[in-house]
Amino acid sequence: MWDFTSPRKVIFGEDALEYLSEKDFKHAFVVTDPVMKKLHFHLLEEQLKAIDAKITIFDEIPGEPSLQTVEKGAKLLAEVKPDVIIAFGGGSVMDSAKGMWPMWANPEDGIDAIEGLDPFADLKLREKTGCILINIPTTSGTGSDVTWATVLTDKSSDTERKASFGNRDLVADITILDPILTKTLPKSLIAGTGFDAISHAVGGYLSTWANDFSDALLLHAFKLLWNNLPLAYQQAETGEVDYEVREKLHNAATMSGWGFGNSQIILGHAIGHTIGAAFKIPHSKCIGACCWYSLMYNKNTVSERIADLATAAGIKGDTIEEKAENLIVAFKKMLMDVDLPISLEEMGVTKEKYDTEIETVIDYTLNDSGSLSNPREVDYEDYVNIYSAMFSGKELDF
Ligand SMILES: NC(=O)c1ccc[n+]([C@@H]2O[C@H](COP(=O)([O-])OP(=O)(O)OC[C@H]3O[C@@H](n4cnc5c(N)ncnc54)[C@H](O)[C@@H]3O)[C@@H](O)[C@H]2O)c1
Ligand SMILES: [Fe+2]
Repeated sequence: MWDFTSPRKVIFGEDALEYLSEKDFKHAFVVTDPVMKKLHFHLLEEQLKAIDAKITIFDEIPGEPSLQTVEKGAKLLAEVKPDVIIAFGGGSVMDSAKGMWPMWANPEDGIDAIEGLDPFADLKLREKTGCILINIPTTSGTGSDVTWATVLTDKSSDTERKASFGNRDLVADITILDPILTKTLPKSLIAGTGFDAISHAVGGYLSTWANDFSDALLLHAFKLLWNNLPLAYQQAETGEVDYEVREKLHNAATMSGWGFGNSQIILGHAIGHTIGAAFKIPHSKCIGACCWYSLMYNKNTVSERIADLATAAGIKGDTIEEKAENLIVAFKKMLMDVDLPISLEEMGVTKEKYDTEIETVIDYTLNDSGSLSNPREVDYEDYVNIYSAMFSGKELDF
């Protein structure tokens, strides 16, 4: 038996933010970061002022947030007791808000309310706090607005470790997708976060936990992302904002999250989480290359599934194997076209740092949930070979 968890509402399209002015919230706790506060917070404020809601802002979220930052926000939440938490930002902001909520509901547990989270427990967050969660993503990438995962970094060990914690109670009540918020995304973030969403579509579709419901969302999301990402990137190079293209990317990122959130991720994300924390590389910068390695590693095990993705993207081939191979070649080309790195070296990892950290990095990667749901079994030796190829951007030959 399996279940497919979704938010109660997905509000999307032009002026989606106005949905808030139809609600009767009394006190909104807005989780955001300094950039978003400066760029777009006024748009949210306008809607909340229209319904006379009190607003408390916690805008201290850094990129790739830590458990320790989240704990600080949870303490403030417990003081002000809002009736709605609004996460207004990228994955870092949404993951932080999702992490704060169980800590607020279980103050006696502190960080353990997240670190010791039982994925299948009934947390009763809504009953305990009298509050709901609304996510408003401003990047078109993570899909955290609809997943039951929160990815947070534990800074307490020498090699920092990023871990994914999950529970279905963390799935937002409402997600609001307003493409206007993405108009300020620089081209590097359009590329990086877009490839995060592509990696979710690939990972969720190839995962051993894939199912009919996730397949439907992920194939279409992959098609939308593949067709619109290069266009959005080229337009951003000239400063053009085409809202139709932006909306497709924004919707597709959420669809990818919705799908993979209910089917799991694979080896690409196991690598991405680990190198992100260990070598301090933003998720959006490294995940595209990690996904390319996951395609190469898995191609003989799930060539038919990779060929399905190729078909969705309009990539041709005479046989299943040829289609799968053509997608892998096109994947690398698209990464290069949008100026994303392929190798760890290009991501700024020095040989010295690599040699010092690699054993711990492989241990952490093996223990990431993405290694468990990977279609081809993976062991320590395999990761030695994958990482060694990835250091200089070589193709996999095993
Ligand atoms: N929970 C999940 O299911 C899930 C899935 C994938 C990734 N993640 C996590 O999400 C985090 C990354 O999130 P992200 O890629 O969205 O980046 P981010 O939230 O870290 O944001 C990156 C930068 O972009 C800026 N930004 C955000 N929106 C903007 C906009 N509209 N215009 C201009 N600048 C904007 C932010 O202020 C920040 O400086 C990582 O920690 C990653 O591990 C979580
Ligand atoms: Fe991701």
